Amino acid sequence: MNDQPVSARTYNNVVVPTGEKVLFQDGDPVTPNHPIIPFIEGDGIGPEISDATRLILDKAVSLAYGPDRSIAWLEIFAGDKAKETFGKALPDDTLEAIRDFGVAIKGPLGTPTGGGMRSLNVTLRQHFDLYRCVRPVRYFSGVPSVVKRPKDLDVVIFRENTEDVYAGIEFKMGSEGAVRLIEVLKELGTIVRDDTGIGIKIQSKFGAQRIVRAALDYAVAHGRTVVTIVHKGNIQKFTEGAFLEWGLEVARDEFGDKVVFEDDLWSKHGGNLPEGKILVNSRIADAMFFELLTKSSKFSVIATMNLNGDYLSDAAAAQVGGLGIAPGANIGDACAIFEATHGTAPDIAGKGIANPCSLLLSGVMMLEYLGWNEAATIAVKAIEKTIRAKTVTGDLARFMTNATALGTSDFANAVVGNMKALPKRRKPVKSGK
Ligand code: NAI
Repeated sequence: MNDQPVSARTYNNVVVPTGEKVLFQDGDPVTPNHPIIPFIEGDGIGPEISDATRLILDKAVSLAYGPDRSIAWLEIFAGDKAKETFGKALPDDTLEAIRDFGVAIKGPLGTPTGGGMRSLNVTLRQHFDLYRCVRPVRYFSGVPSVVKRPKDLDVVIFRENTEDVYAGIEFKMGSEGAVRLIEVLKELGTIVRDDTGIGIKIQSKFGAQRIVRAALDYAVAHGRTVVTIVHKGNIQKFTEGAFLEWGLEVARDEFGDKVVFEDDLWSKHGGNLPEGKILVNSRIADAMFFELLTKSSKFSVIATMNLNGDYLSDAAAAQVGGLGIAPGANIGDACAIFEATHGTAPDIAGKGIANPCSLLLSGVMMLEYLGWNEAATIAVKAIEKTIRAKTVTGDLARFMTNATALGTSDFANAVVGNMKALPKRRKPVKSGK
């Protein structure tokens, strides 16, 4: 069923290429050999980094699997390009294509601040219930960093993506909603000034538990030994504090045989994590910023609410060399969108100098998500080699000594040039009689 070709329908006038759909089973993708992957170029520098990314991913897949596997790219539209061509920043066909094909990749999209339309990024996350924002943050040797030991940081951040202050429950000062809510709040005995705008922070038990479960599942699957729940429960007891409580409940009830809690680490295990176990601990958000910087190597997987996760991901990315190289993914149980973590960089758009690594490494995450780990490894090794050779885009080159600053497409070609097929695995020697 998975190898059935998709009929030649179009999305926003683009004919679907020959290929197959990624299906989902129990929340995980089932990848065909030629998956159709919709891509949104994005605004600003989006087209430049999107071209570079597809070039590199295609080459890595081809080196890893030859003609047996390939990605059938389908362009879909959002942002400025969609508005110009179809009169809508997020056409229905775009949503349908993402829903139909399940896995997509997107460049950055511009969002007005302080009014205007809602962020397209937030809309996509809500629409497809992409509740996991996953941000791996690691150091690539040679990348200029503001800290002394950037290599110490190697974390994967699981940020809850649909609730908290991002749920979109906001009332402008003086609006009917704000006036009525203020009345209710006064009735409940709280003091709120009349000239107040209101934004509501929500956190459900369901939402908290599924993100902590995803973080724990990831730690188990990838042999990571620490999961830290980050919260601000000392101040916001029934949202942030409850997030911690509900998270610990999942760890205890569903992963009880695999985890050790911080309290028990010393009292029961003399401070040593038993072999094969995962340490589950927690940190208050402000302390976490301090410790991530000063005790980086103590952390591995982080589970946290939406706003904390937003701040933490960018701070962590800054530690290893900036947003230009930090990848990200928004993942649900029947859909996943991989995206650059930086914005549209309007100041350098169209100049051909943008760093494609953030989108590219998001593409690498996508390959891993699809189970194409060999292609992902080929791409990562080539990126590492290119950066080590100090052939990088200008944003990195200007902080490195003796580096060669390349434009976006020259950098992409350099990465492709540095790609090597993985050595063939030797067949196991049959034991003789
Ligand atoms: P930005 O990330 O676009 O730019 C900040 C600075 O970083 C600029 O100096 C820019 O030139 C530089 N930069 C960013 N990406 C780069 C890259 N790949 N290579 C080299 N330099 C890079 O943030 P800004 O200026 O605050 O936002 C611009 C627009 O992007 C806004 O409309 C904002 O809403 C949107 N945005 C979209 C995001 C998304 O689609 N996920 C995320 C963040 C912002």
